[in-house]
Amino acid sequence: MSKHKDSSENRGSKKVGGSKKSDRSSKKSDKKKHRKDDGACEVTRSRVRAHFLDGETGPWARTLAGQSPDSGEQTASTSEAAASEAESGEGGAQSSTARPANRRGPDYSVPSSIDTVADPVLHAISTRRSISKLDPETPSDSDLRELIRTVSSVADHKGLKPWRFVIIRGDDRNRLGEALDEADDVHRKPGEINEKPLRAELLLALVASPQNNPKVPAWEQHATAAGAGHLLELALWQAGWGVMWRSGNLANAPAVRRLHRLKDDELLMGWLYIGAVPERYRQRLAGSTRPLPDPDQFLDTL
Ligand SMILES: Cc1cc2nc3c(=O)[nH]c(=O)nc-3n(C[C@H](O)[C@H](O)[C@H](O)COP(=O)(O)O)c2cc1C
Repeated sequence: MSKHKDSSENRGSKKVGGSKKSDRSSKKSDKKKHRKDDGACEVTRSRVRAHFLDGETGPWARTLAGQSPDSGEQTASTSEAAASEAESGEGGAQSSTARPANRRGPDYSVPSSIDTVADPVLHAISTRRSISKLDPETPSDSDLRELIRTVSSVADHKGLKPWRFVIIRGDDRNRLGEALDEADDVHRKPGEINEKPLRAELLLALVASPQNNPKVPAWEQHATAAGAGHLLELALWQAGWGVMWRSGNLANAPAVRRLHRLKDDELLMGWLYIGAVPERYRQRLAGSTRPLPDPDQFLDTL
């Protein structure tokens, strides 16, 4: 307690008399002190340190291995040669659209050192699949908490944290079915229910919750929320669970919004349907050959 008080007082006094630089360094050392007090931060820090010092990928790893890291600087003639190679389809990947002669396009002359099979994270990203039919076992709420903590590293302009998830299990799924029916003006016979939300034992509704901020428009905050959704899909996949993100045009109908207690400016981005990956599907995945799309369709230069 007293430490916090002292450091904030120090900050105040430095601001009056000190230069901007010393103010910054004092803030930094204050931050360090706070971090030192926090065991969880220490764990995070040592993990980050391990990633940067012992990681086997990245420019630092190449430097450690005695190779010169790619400086990114290339002579114009090299990159032009590569561009014309790419256009003619020789050597590098072929560009999918005809390009005017004065367009450079990506430079593939430096071969990639990235190994998307050996690197577990890249491997998980590239093999992720949506699983539509799920077995009943689900991650516990404590598991979800850990995964949410993990994906909270999502890129977030000004750190507004404009997203949240709502856990829907058990009979709450029937309440969602009723809200969807109400939104769609569907009237069922007694005993009949909307089975759509029952396609998994666990649904996580993703809510984009933008704040009023002059520097961060709502669309950026929606992008952060979508990023959290995608990261969570990936984190669940990596943790061994099956997921499918579903939405539908009723997601933001009044009855559905009411059920999720959305505020006026909030947006329901859909539901992650979560469960165990059925054994038959795991077998199928093991032999799957679904090719990844040609990356050139997603990559260009100005
Ligand atoms: C925001 C969002 C909403 C989606 N809504 C639906 C949906 O309502 N129904 C559906 O079949 N797929 C929906 N999808 C697509 C699936 O989640 C999935 O990505 C798609 O079936 C392709 O499978 P894959 O993820 O294995 O490539 C949605 C995806 C996103 C990102």
